[in-house]
Amino acid sequence: MTDSRTPAGVAVVTGASSGIGAATARELAAAGFTVALLARRLDRIAAVAEEIGNGAIAIEADVTDRASLVAAADRVRTELGGATVLVNNAGVALVGPFGSERRDDCRRMIEVNLLGTITATEVFLDQSKAAAHADIVNISSVAGRRAEPGGGCTPRRSGVSTDGASRCALS
Ligand SMILES: NC(=O)c1ccc[n+]([C@@H]2O[C@H](COP(=O)([O-])OP(=O)(O)OC[C@H]3O[C@@H](n4cnc5c(N)ncnc54)[C@H](OP(=O)(O)O)[C@@H]3O)[C@@H](O)[C@H]2O)c1
Repeated sequence: MTDSRTPAGVAVVTGASSGIGAATARELAAAGFTVALLARRLDRIAAVAEEIGNGAIAIEADVTDRASLVAAADRVRTELGGATVLVNNAGVALVGPFGSERRDDCRRMIEVNLLGTITATEVFLDQSKAAAHADIVNISSVAGRRAEPGGGCTPRRSGVSTDGASRCALS
């Protein structure tokens, strides 16, 4: 179901307020997609949406808050006709030595990187299914393939990377 106003389709990008997400939103707009930019920092996504134009909209959403994703999905359906592409990009990196003092950080990372991706996919699933052709893209990391000492919150001896674990689960 491609909206008549959007020849290439409608792309939703989570974590579109900076870095890879903002760059992906720009590229998708340049390729003719109408883009919905999601992130917590509304001022940033609003600025990117205004810059890229082509009907782009900015929607404040936290991927750890399902209600905010449901509200975002409602807006995408109502204002843009439904998503044909979902880019699960929102994420946090946890670098440095692993230890008990990082327990809360580790939990947060799993909530954003893994559960946030699962929840966004689940919330937009009906729009993907309704589309004649849909793509879901998950941004992971090489940290999901190998553990680097001192990187990805890695215990130096065990070779286990908690950042890598969240990425590995996505891969
Ligand atoms: N850059 C790299 O070298 C690299 C390497 C491996 C993997 N990655 C992964 O690639 C993705 C993008 O990375 P980046 O380098 O572009 O990082 P970044 O500039 O820090 O961007 C992260 C994005 O995630 C959003 N975000 C964080 N928590 C969120 C939440 N709870 N709800 C919604 N959005 C949230 C941030 O927006 P708000 O703060 O405005 O919500 C921001 O837009 C991430 O998943 C990252 O872990 C990057």
